[in-house]
Amino acid sequence: MVRVTAGVEAHTHEYIATAHEDQKFGFSITGGDAMEAVRRLRAAAGIDLLGLHSHIGSQIFDTSGFEVAARRVLALHARISDELGVELPELDLGGGFGIAYTTQDDPAEPAQLATEMTKIVEHECRAFDVAVPRLSIEPGRAIVGPSTCTLYEVGTVKEVALDGGARRTYVSVDGGMSDNIRTALYDADYSCTLASRGSDASPVLGRVVGKHCEAGDILVKDEFVPGDIAAGDLLAVPGTGAYCRSMASNYNHALRPPVIAVRDGVARAVVRRETVDDLLSTDVGVESNS
Ligand SMILES: Cc1ncc(COP(=O)(O)O)c(C=O)c1O
Repeated sequence: MVRVTAGVEAHTHEYIATAHEDQKFGFSITGGDAMEAVRRLRAAAGIDLLGLHSHIGSQIFDTSGFEVAARRVLALHARISDELGVELPELDLGGGFGIAYTTQDDPAEPAQLATEMTKIVEHECRAFDVAVPRLSIEPGRAIVGPSTCTLYEVGTVKEVALDGGARRTYVSVDGGMSDNIRTALYDADYSCTLASRGSDASPVLGRVVGKHCEAGDILVKDEFVPGDIAAGDLLAVPGTGAYCRSMASNYNHALRPPVIAVRDGVARAVVRRETVDDLLSTDVGVESNS
């Protein structure tokens, strides 16, 4: 497949919007690079070019961006048919289907998205008078993200005064940007909830931060938490099944936490907790001359 940039800016953070022109991914359609790539691949021995591929970004909640991308990519698909005499058999519109990280997120059902995207592609193909190619998509987080939440233990709590008389409660926990880099990396939003007990205390504006030596080590930027939140409480952050363990690091030699599968009241580790021995296992040591 040829990855093309369709010039669509999905409604998402700049670092996870991947089809506008000013970035590293893909061959530009408008600049002519995509057509040139197709020409060269068609001429190359041993290459079986299946079709065009576009991925416009992540955390997308409606199909309007896909509609514009499909129209532009299918315009190129039709041009390839006209100029090179070949109707490519496949079209890949990438992933990016949003999931609920916060209580405000309201993702569409996969079946509804599939129906809408199929309609868009069929409509555009009729307009360009080309056969409907085999359509594929690449959902990532929509499959695995909602399956998992991260449990943190609260360490310390402090309240700060903000401009205008407002206050914010900083809740520091036993993890951070080493197990979830998304907030620090591209300003991702999360909600969280007190998981170890109920509380009738009035909610206060909270910010959940990690244990690392960085002011930007933030996990949940803004969330109302019970006013009596205290050391030892457990906080759950939802939607962490994608791009958290897989992007976790040993930042400052922090050990990565385990992944626990829970079903019908039974828990088992599917990825065990890292140990200091794991961390040092690649250390070859220094040969002594004595
Ligand atoms: C080319 C491509 N396809 C699909 C995906 C999956 O994206 P998401 O998990 O947002 O569905 C990505 C994510 O980076 C990607 O780069």
